[in-house]
Amino acid sequence: MERIYMDYAATAPMLPEALAAYVSAASEAPGNPSSLHGYGRGARSRITEARDALSRALGCRPDELTFTGGGTESDNAALFGAARAQRSRDARRTGIVTTAVEHHAVLHAARRLAAEGFELTVLPVDRAGRVSVRDAEAAIGDTTAVVSVMYGNNETGTLQPIAQVGELARSRGAVMHVDAVQAFGYERIDVGALPVDLLSLSAHKIGGPQGVGALYVRSGTPWEPLLHGGSQERRRRAGTENVAGIAAFGVAADIASRTLETRRAHAEAVREALLSGLRERLGAEAFSVNGDPDAAGRLPHILNIGIEGVSNETLLMNLDLQGIAASGGSACTSGSLQPSHVLVAMGLSSHFCKNSVRFSFGMGNTISQADKTAEIVATIASRLRKR
Ligand SMILES: Cc1ncc(COP(=O)(O)O)c(C=O)c1O
Repeated sequence: MERIYMDYAATAPMLPEALAAYVSAASEAPGNPSSLHGYGRGARSRITEARDALSRALGCRPDELTFTGGGTESDNAALFGAARAQRSRDARRTGIVTTAVEHHAVLHAARRLAAEGFELTVLPVDRAGRVSVRDAEAAIGDTTAVVSVMYGNNETGTLQPIAQVGELARSRGAVMHVDAVQAFGYERIDVGALPVDLLSLSAHKIGGPQGVGALYVRSGTPWEPLLHGGSQERRRRAGTENVAGIAAFGVAADIASRTLETRRAHAEAVREALLSGLRERLGAEAFSVNGDPDAAGRLPHILNIGIEGVSNETLLMNLDLQGIAASGGSACTSGSLQPSHVLVAMGLSSHFCKNSVRFSFGMGNTISQADKTAEIVATIASRLRKR
C-alpha cells in the first residue's frame, strides 16, 4: 500500500540536507557552544552559520534572532516578553489585542496574561477567517501593550492583513507580534519592509527538526526574556543551545528561502489536483472549502474542507487505514472532540466543524497522490453516508 502524507502543516518530514547538518553537528561539533576551547568554538560556529542563514531569509540582522525550543516557545516569549516590558515602562500599557483564530500558543499565552491582570481583546474574524482592519483600529489604543496577529492560519491557510494592523499598532506605541510559523517558507517575509517588531518561526514546518524555533526581535523593541539562567543567546534565552537542531534549522531555512517559488507552485498544483479530483468524484455540492478560496488571500499548502454528512473523525480513521495522513485541524486539537476554535470563530456550526478535515502539502506529494486521495475520500464518504 502506498502511504500518502498530507499533513505538512502538522509537521514536514525532515529534509535530507537538514538531517545531514544535524548529524554532522551532533557528531563533529560535540562541544558546548559557551566553552572557549576549540570544541566549543566549533559548536558555536554551527549556530552562527544558522543564524546568518535565517537572517538572510528574513532580511534582518543576525543579532535580532534568538533560537528557541520551537514555535510555541517563540510565541510565549513574544507575548510575555513584550507585555511585561511594556507594562514596566508604562503601568497603563496593559492591553493585549489578538484574534480568535490564533494558534493556542498565542491564545493561551494571552489568556494567561489576562489572568495576570492584562486586558485582553480577542478580535472576531469573517467567514474566510480574516480579521478586519477596522475592528483592529477600534481595539488598538494608547494603552495597548502588544498586538499579536498571525501571518497565515494553520488550519485554513487564510492570510491576515498584518501590514495594516502592524502600522496601527506601531502608531499607537504597541509592540506588533506576528506568528509566521506556517507562512515562513511559503510567503516571502522581509521584516525590513514590514511593520513588525516580533516574529515567531518553527523549524519543523519547513523540513527542519522538531523542538527548534526562532524569535525575531527588532532592535529597540521593548521585550524581556522568558528564560533566565546562563548568558546564552546574548542573555535572551538561557540554556545550552540545541546545536544540532539549530544547524539543521539553518539549512532548512536556507533551502526554503531559495526554493520558495518552486515550493509554492508545487503545493498549489497538488492542492488544485486534490480539489478538482474531489469536485469530480464527490461532486462540487458535497463539500465546501473553509477559508479564503482566493489564492492571493491564503497560503498555498493548506486545504480545509467540510464534507456534508461525514464526520471528520471517522473519515480520518478510514483514511489512515488506507495509508493517508491528514488532520482534523491543528495537531493539538485533533484527537479531542472539541470543534476547532478557528472554524467556530469563522461562524461554522459546531456540527459542520466536525465534518471538516485539513489536507496540507509539501514537496513529497505528487499529483497522482492527490488524485488517489480524492478517489479514496469519495469512496469512504459514499460508504459512510449510506450507513
Ligand atoms: C501557526 C502556528 N503557531 C505555532 C505553532 C507551534 O509550533 P511548534 O509546534 O514548533 O511549537 C504551530 C504548530 O502547529 C502553528 O501552526
